[in-house]
Amino acid sequence: MRGARLGVVALGLLAVPLLSSCTGGMLDPQSPRADKVIVLWWVMLGTSSVIFVFLCGLLLWGLRRASRNSARAREGQLNRDRYLVLGGGIALPVTVMVVLMVLTVWAGRSITEAAGSDAVTVEVIGHQWWWEVRYPDTGLVTANEIHIPSGEPVNILLKSEDVIHSFWVPELSGKIDLIPGRTNSLIIEASHPGEFRGQCAEFCGLQHAGMRILVVAEDRDSFDQWVQEQGEPAPALNPADDAQLWEGQQAFLGSACVYCHTIRGTNGSGTLGPDLTHIASRQRLASNMIPNTRGHLAGWILDPQAVKPGTQMPPTQLSADQLDALLDYLESLK
Ligand code: CUA
Repeated sequence: MRGARLGVVALGLLAVPLLSSCTGGMLDPQSPRADKVIVLWWVMLGTSSVIFVFLCGLLLWGLRRASRNSARAREGQLNRDRYLVLGGGIALPVTVMVVLMVLTVWAGRSITEAAGSDAVTVEVIGHQWWWEVRYPDTGLVTANEIHIPSGEPVNILLKSEDVIHSFWVPELSGKIDLIPGRTNSLIIEASHPGEFRGQCAEFCGLQHAGMRILVVAEDRDSFDQWVQEQGEPAPALNPADDAQLWEGQQAFLGSACVYCHTIRGTNGSGTLGPDLTHIASRQRLASNMIPNTRGHLAGWILDPQAVKPGTQMPPTQLSADQLDALLDYLESLK
């Protein structure tokens, strides 16, 4: 009976890696960098499983022997026990630790080793609770969605504006903390075009779980085109040509939005929240918590606490007409 129960527990534990490999994620790497991390993971799992089973056996054996022989511990047995302690207590752990350390250094280097000097560099800055994304080579600024060229190593420089966060896109690389006052670096590489989800992996407050990131890997031409489009300021408007968009822009500039958000090409240059110059080109809102649709955007503007409790974005008071115009304007920022 007890054996059967143990069997069920063991199967349950085994199911975790097996099931997660079915659904993608860490166990299904899509990157030559993450490949090495997963090798390390399997070696560690295998080694610790073998040691665990071995120790359970040893414990059972010791218990049985102790109950049989407790009264007559002999000199020879003590000698044998000494070898067991020296071998099992020193030699074996030292060997295992050295092998794992070498493998760890090997895997760690693959994700932190500098990419070539012509590699794309992306600065990722952690905020409670969203990701600022900057491309220093072009001056481009966006948020929560990182575009990279596929098949190329990309330098990620990680900083934090407030508390410790951790950048983790399991299919593309290992994870590294964003620490206030210092810059950490990480290399990510996608072996093919695709979209890869990531997550802040260090508890950073109420919306830690709501601090998601999306990496979009695309072929070099599409990436270059994206960079060029994102580098453009928002189109200049005048009330005679497009009254509705103009109204929307006035709603943005005349409300609290402007204190925190930038729309390049307007007077809005706040930096506390994400840059909105190309907000309509992003797939999701609120650090990838909700789809970027008109309805979700309206809800997010009017009552952000209902969408993401604790978020630092305050609610915005707008008339129905102002909201309608603002939504039209934001949706035009492709
Ligand atoms: Cu940021 Cu957890």
